[in-house]
Amino acid sequence: MRTLEEAFLKFKSRLELKPKEQDNASERHKEIRAHLKTKFTIENDFLTGSYARWTKTKPLKDVDIFCPLGTAHAHYRDEHPDNVLKAFETALAEKYGAANVSRQRRSCTVDFGVTPDSEDKTDYKVMSVDVVPAFKKDDDYEIPDANEGKWIETNPKTHADKAVAAQRAYNDQWKAMVRMLKYWNNHHGKPVKPSFLLEVMCLDCLSGGFGGRWDYEFQSLFATLANRIDEVWADPAGLGPPVSDMMDNARKATAKSALEAAESAATNAIHLARQGKNYEAHLAWRALFGPLFPHP
Ligand SMILES: Nc1ncnc2c1ncn2[C@@H]1O[C@H](COP(=O)(O)OP(=O)(O)OP(=O)(O)O)[C@@H](O)[C@H]1O
Ligand SMILES: [Mg+2]
Repeated sequence: MRTLEEAFLKFKSRLELKPKEQDNASERHKEIRAHLKTKFTIENDFLTGSYARWTKTKPLKDVDIFCPLGTAHAHYRDEHPDNVLKAFETALAEKYGAANVSRQRRSCTVDFGVTPDSEDKTDYKVMSVDVVPAFKKDDDYEIPDANEGKWIETNPKTHADKAVAAQRAYNDQWKAMVRMLKYWNNHHGKPVKPSFLLEVMCLDCLSGGFGGRWDYEFQSLFATLANRIDEVWADPAGLGPPVSDMMDNARKATAKSALEAAESAATNAIHLARQGKNYEAHLAWRALFGPLFPHP
């Protein structure tokens, strides 16, 4: 049987982007770019979000594609954000079918009809992408926000730079911790929304360097997150609305309970290992994280 350390390393590796997944994401990106360019003037579109920062979890879905629009489309910037999102929805539905395209708060999702198996594997296929219309504004971007009813500012490079700095400060294990944590969140019905909020919290809550033991790291991370989930968490770039603005009091309470339950499950798994019950400890971690945590 694997040691617990080996199990966590296997889990970590399973959550990393594989070359075949990157090839598939790149193909989907090119295909969407080619189609959208027949409808809009798009300048320097790029893959972004957690996918580009290596904080995306598995199964691979909602890969973000930023599409900066040319001046011919500047009128959208003066209109309600729904308008540009509707225009993108219509354009994407022509190629992918209306049933596979949906409008989100800041993007249009294209669903490729890929279903993960019982072990959360998708044969290296991307399940969906989020296409984000944008306008360049100096070094930043403006993107539509249907919930706010206005355009918001964002800066993917600042978010990426912060993730790189956090990774360095945490002995190169910060991104792996974030991917595992987001996998836990998905496995428990997304108590924390959006999952970017978990990444933002980890910028603050994981400090002082990786202690060398994944089990203790998660026990303490879950405890800290439970304590701090009701705070207001600002956009780390200081541009957009608070990243925690989807968490009303009811959602915060649900998330707090889920994080507290995760902390006690971690404590229990650590206790099992201390008693020499390694098989049971592995099963407890797998039950906590989900099927990509290896079977003992
Ligand atoms: N409140 C905000 N203000 C400014 N920029 C934001 C805000 N929320 C998200 N963003 C930016 O938009 C990107 C895409 O948002 P999204 O919700 O898809 O997050 P994500 O980091 O890609 O996480 P996920 O793994 O859930 O896709 C984020 O990575 C971040 O760069
Ligand atoms: Mg995303």
